Amino acid sequence: MAPQPKVDDTLLRCIGCGAVTPVAESGLACATCGDLLEVVFPQPSAKPPLDAAALKALWRQRRSSQLPADQSGVWRFREVLPSLREEHQAITLREGSTPLYELSRCARAAGVEHLYAKHQGMNPTGSFKDTGMTVAASFARQEGFHWVACASTGNTSASMAAYAARGGMRGLVLIPEGQIAWGKLSQALDYGAVTCQLKTDFDGCMRVLNEVVQRMPVYVLNSVNPYRLEGQKTAAIELLEQFDWEVPDHVIVPGGNLGNSSALGKAFLEMKELGLISTLPKLSVIQAEGANALVRTIRETGGKKLIPVQANTMATAIRIGNPASWKKAVRVLEATGGTVEQVSEVEIALAKAEIGADGIGCEPASAVTLAGLKKLVKQGFVKPRETVVLILTGHLLKDPEFTLKFHRGDLLAGTGYEKEAGLLNAQQRAPIVLEASVDAVLRVLEQAERAG
Ligand code: F0G
Repeated sequence: MAPQPKVDDTLLRCIGCGAVTPVAESGLACATCGDLLEVVFPQPSAKPPLDAAALKALWRQRRSSQLPADQSGVWRFREVLPSLREEHQAITLREGSTPLYELSRCARAAGVEHLYAKHQGMNPTGSFKDTGMTVAASFARQEGFHWVACASTGNTSASMAAYAARGGMRGLVLIPEGQIAWGKLSQALDYGAVTCQLKTDFDGCMRVLNEVVQRMPVYVLNSVNPYRLEGQKTAAIELLEQFDWEVPDHVIVPGGNLGNSSALGKAFLEMKELGLISTLPKLSVIQAEGANALVRTIRETGGKKLIPVQANTMATAIRIGNPASWKKAVRVLEATGGTVEQVSEVEIALAKAEIGADGIGCEPASAVTLAGLKKLVKQGFVKPRETVVLILTGHLLKDPEFTLKFHRGDLLAGTGYEKEAGLLNAQQRAPIVLEASVDAVLRVLEQAERAG
């Protein structure tokens, strides 16, 4: 990637060769070896760290403040984020502060007693991307960028378009044609981004973007941007706060480009370093079978060498074959003792419907977490008595087409999985078309009551 102009004086470390440089010299990739960068924690310039108890109290106290930066579930944790020159300059849609739900039916389906969902789909644009975008977009604006850009499977583009618009910047979106859920595409359009549907896949969009930024002063807001991951850390901190700083045994995350798992893992490690927690949750990553680069990388090379794949899955958000942050994710798996698993299209569809039937709902990519959990319980990696948190990354309404096809029974048509369609029957609730008659409705009601 081209050297990017100065953003601020935060120190970044290369995850490959370990070189530490100010961001002004390094851009978004290491000038020496080209690998990804991460924000050094703690920053040498940081104010003397508060002790653990004081930090917990300060973060909690901000929840009753009216200041925009305190109302943001991201900037509320600003002691562990890179600092803006002026904190009121944050571009915020009041992201974060997402609910933690108990999933009782899903718990029974998976065979565990204590199952929770941290629903990142409850963010302003409907996905976890907002927590990172508020930070990276704010730094882009602080340094006077006119254009910000991303390649995306949909959610990043929706989020970036919103934050660019709020921050008075222009947004350039590159998405794979025909592989984006409608909810996400319509958001990018509505928020006013220049939206290009490229005749390629996500990995192809990423390649084109890397060339574009060589030629134009455009700031990249993909998760290779280390500021994005700093913002995404806050979901893990907020989760710990919601558990009163009792550490859950397992946190399960979907894996695509692998930025989110890396960010959550970084947060858990930093919270331990700061003394806010004394143990770590095991952080595990679940991928779709058809987009399983990390699973193969771990199983076939012990995490030493990336095995890219030609990605294909109906969970379009994670249809990624060449994940940029794979090394960061491997490090997090090793540091927390987590694992990887892959799940089939049918398993994803079933798990999504089960999360819906718990009154929560999510987009298909998020449902890999429940599907993966079932396997991890069967393998004995997750014990029935352990506390498990699924990170639900996107809102149900992001991809209504998937849900409608599922309930109408034609999700698997033409996919090669038709033989397994019967496995989904019990969860299907197709809409019932009737004459406008009271008797007809009552008959349906009685039938439904009998069926239970
Ligand atoms: N879940 C959803 C709903 C996503 O949109 C994504 C990624 C992921 C999971 C995977 O997260 O990439 O950090 O491992 N979506 C990106 C996008 C790539 O462009 O919206 P990851």
